[in-house]
Amino acid sequence: MLRREVNGEWHSMTVQVLFLPDEIAIAAEPGEPLLQVAQRAGVFIPTGCLMGSCHACEVELGDGTLICACISAVPADTTQLIIQLYGDSVW
Ligand code: FES
Repeated sequence: MLRREVNGEWHSMTVQVLFLPDEIAIAAEPGEPLLQVAQRAGVFIPTGCLMGSCHACEVELGDGTLICACISAVPADTTQLIIQLYGDSVW
């Protein structure tokens, strides 16, 4: 497993991403675009503008934070990322 140093500590270079509600898990690299991770996992996240304006791609993180997947990447300071998808039929 690849590791790297962040602030004097060694961290795994793999982040486990869990897409809910279907519980689809996949390994991702810090900095990898979320839409790319979702595509690799076979998870569909609707998109529109692809620049953070329309919120069609909005997902909820495990801590309740809402983010636009199109302008977000896998963070480097965690080993697990939980992403709650919405089933909004409007998009
Ligand atoms: S696709 Fe429009 S905000 Fe992400």
